[in-house]
Amino acid sequence: MCGGVEMKNKITLHCATTWTEAVDCRIVAMTEECWQSLPVVPTATPEHDLLLRAREDGEFSAKSQETLLLHCGTDLAPRLLVVGLGAAAKLSAEVYRQAAALAVSSLRQKKLTRWLIDCDTFCSDDVAALADALADGVLLEAYRFDHYKKEDNGNNKAMQCVLGAIDESVLAEVEQRIAQRRIISEGVWLCRNLVNEPGNVKTPVYLAEQAWALAELYGLTCTLLGPEELQRQGFGALLAVAKGSICEPRLIVLDYQGASEDVPPIALVGKGVTFDSGGISLKPGEGMDQMKMDMAGGAAVLATLAVAAQLKLPLNIVGVVPAVENMPSDRATRPGDIVTSLSGKTIEILNTDAEGRLILADALTWVARRKPQLVVDLATLTGACIIALGHQSSAVLGNDEALIADLRRSGDQVGERVWPLPLFDEYSEQIKSEVADVKNIGGRPAGTITAAAFLQKFVEDLPWAHLDIAGTAWQDKGKPGQPNGGTGVGVRLLIDFLRQRSELKK
Ligand code: BES
Ligand code: MN
Ligand code: ZN
Repeated sequence: MCGGVEMKNKITLHCATTWTEAVDCRIVAMTEECWQSLPVVPTATPEHDLLLRAREDGEFSAKSQETLLLHCGTDLAPRLLVVGLGAAAKLSAEVYRQAAALAVSSLRQKKLTRWLIDCDTFCSDDVAALADALADGVLLEAYRFDHYKKEDNGNNKAMQCVLGAIDESVLAEVEQRIAQRRIISEGVWLCRNLVNEPGNVKTPVYLAEQAWALAELYGLTCTLLGPEELQRQGFGALLAVAKGSICEPRLIVLDYQGASEDVPPIALVGKGVTFDSGGISLKPGEGMDQMKMDMAGGAAVLATLAVAAQLKLPLNIVGVVPAVENMPSDRATRPGDIVTSLSGKTIEILNTDAEGRLILADALTWVARRKPQLVVDLATLTGACIIALGHQSSAVLGNDEALIADLRRSGDQVGERVWPLPLFDEYSEQIKSEVADVKNIGGRPAGTITAAAFLQKFVEDLPWAHLDIAGTAWQDKGKPGQPNGGTGVGVRLLIDFLRQRSELKK
């Protein structure tokens, strides 16, 4: 298996009407209303008594993020974990995902690894959608990045989860959907792994090898361009970034063909800076280690292609990842240098730390020549995006309102929200250069927007949307479902988006 998704701890996930194998714990859910209206019938069951006592004590109130573990039940399930769903009016797929992740995370902390989730208790009438959300929550929580921890920390035990109380009539459908959620979650694991991998291991060549391996595994076509070819074709902007590093750059291209040849592809482009030191415009030392995540857009694109192929989506997709390392050295690009991009436009590089837009400019020009029906790019592009939106949502900008609306809908659906920023013509005033066609920085105001305005010059009239994931690709306040580190943001969003597109085709 491709190094990407192999995990020491393995998880199995199934659904069932009832269950016959012993588990460590049964998980039930409750809304605040449900909890408040638990009837006070004395000694209905021992379980009921314990719940009433917990309510009297006020130690649990069924808010989201709350759990209550009780030692009661049967030999088949000796414990009961109650997980809060919050207010009934606010129930959503995201509430279910988080509830499942929280339940599983609290049991894992207690080294309990066999769980039964009682789907009946989640107050949902769409069982299939509920199962999707619960499966996502469980699988996303199962992830750990620990293959460098050679000492066994007891976290590597196999895990088993059953989604129980699924009606016989939908069992087969739910089982099939769980299989798909697994493929998608493995895509997220792969993406997280790539992001978490340190910069000394994860060079541009390493990323290219991973892409090659994915292509072999899932029947994609992988094309790799190295420095000579990039030079020959005129990738002046990309090479200007790569120049300072001893690591060779690669343009990584993955093609998935799920429709007939004449259907124009959907293009996905992801920033692949394997480490961003800032170059000669060196970043401050504090937190610089995090800049190994500056290829998170590229990782999302590679993982999305792998998932799309496994799901056999009836589309053609081309994924492009310009992969470089941004380093200072005697050969590095200097502030003030002027380069000619693949498009022919000249760029005045005033800050070598605004490197993402340079490599993306050439990647966008290259993929535009393939005449795709649309292009979506993902990039950890600007610190300004974190100032604008924090870590709660990605920014979306572009030249096609319908495309932006579709991405927003998919983001809402999967809990990877994206929020629009304007891209008025006036913003490009800020990136006018005195001496070249464009300059690569636009000053402090609206940093996320001027970066997008720069990219726009290279997509021209193609329907295009840009996702700035600087604030969402990395999490250092881990939570259930999302351990510290790479989040894998973009994979579930893009897959949902691509699936919507496939539906339209039918
Ligand atoms: N990779 C960074 C952006 C970033 C910052 C991502 C923090 C994630 C967390 C990008 O290459 C960068 O350095 N951008 C500069 C642009 C500036 C020089 C115009 C920035 O945002 O400071
Ligand atoms: Mn930078
Ligand atoms: Zn960067």
